[in-house]
Amino acid sequence: MSSAADQALARLAAQPAARVPVRDDLQGVAPYGAPQLDVPVQLNTNETPWAPPAALVQALQERVGELALHRYPDRGAWPLREALAARFGLAPEQVWPANGSNEVLAQLPQAYGGPGRTVLTSDPGFAALPTIARTTGTDVATVALDEDLRLTPEAAADAVERHAPTLVCVANPNNPTGIAEPAEVVRALHDAGEALIVIDEAYAELADASVVDLIGTLPRLVVTRTFSKAFRLAGVRLGYLLGPDWVVDDLQRVRLPYHLDQITQAAGELACAHAEAVTAHIASLVAERERLTAALADRGVVTWPSQANFLLLRAPVPELFDRLLARGVLVRDVSSHPRLTGCLRVTVGTPDENAAFLEAFDDACAEG
Ligand SMILES: Cc1ncc(COP(=O)(O)O)c(C=O)c1O
Repeated sequence: MSSAADQALARLAAQPAARVPVRDDLQGVAPYGAPQLDVPVQLNTNETPWAPPAALVQALQERVGELALHRYPDRGAWPLREALAARFGLAPEQVWPANGSNEVLAQLPQAYGGPGRTVLTSDPGFAALPTIARTTGTDVATVALDEDLRLTPEAAADAVERHAPTLVCVANPNNPTGIAEPAEVVRALHDAGEALIVIDEAYAELADASVVDLIGTLPRLVVTRTFSKAFRLAGVRLGYLLGPDWVVDDLQRVRLPYHLDQITQAAGELACAHAEAVTAHIASLVAERERLTAALADRGVVTWPSQANFLLLRAPVPELFDRLLARGVLVRDVSSHPRLTGCLRVTVGTPDENAAFLEAFDDACAEG
């Protein structure tokens, strides 16, 4: 069976004569996204398995009732930026929210990329990054991870020197590996050239460290964060950038008018106000991650050390993705990447979901 991306490309290629041809550089581009299948155990998109606290949902319902929805939203999203700035000890002028961190990651190459400029990403890395950058006409260069799927400071510096990017976008912890690199790697990327260094910390709340404290010390460093993972609001679409105020100023040049709606802004403000309750599940999630890692190690399965809410594993039997799916468990098939042959990525779910995954895994492996 061909992949969903192949099928989408075939559909796009079968154009009726009257169809206006898409931009040349988009001809081979497949839409980014994992399958959304209605199966009992969905462990393929790294969402938090627990719904947000009822108190937050209720507060949001009440706030929505108070909003003047016939008016455009606050274009600057100032109360939300103030709430976020207070969490990180930054000024509101150093915070920029958008519709998911993906929108911030699109605004950055819109502002700093474009024809004749290069963005550097890691390979393997978060697959949306090069896809998004290409839509802005930015050239994409990659730095290869080493045999342990780590990004070394030496390789980082060497790639910046060789490709002279204007933007470097690296997810840390990385996706799909879950591996978190130390600040030394970020410093190496920064100091080797003149690029704006974007560290995508979508999973930082689940990790041991963050480079937010280096904002200002490294003058060309920005960090992106999201409400989609540890803040349990993937359905809201809210992410943000933290960094120097000049970057936030530049992003105003490319943002759409009134880009962030009132309800999303309110959800973000209220999530900050309820942050303790919203993030109270993190210890349990990390414990589940470690339990799942140990359970797979007991079975002799190769995994990589994850500091995120997912695990990368090397399947011990062929067609494990399909076998799991047949048993109602959806994971992410990342095996088409040449460095990830036979690999699957599984999101850490509830204890019940993880038990269901392990049961399906054992059953699928027993098939031989
Ligand atoms: C590394 C990384 N960055 C960003 C995102 C997406 O974040 P958002 O939902 O804020 O657009 C993901 C989602 O899977 C991710 O893995």
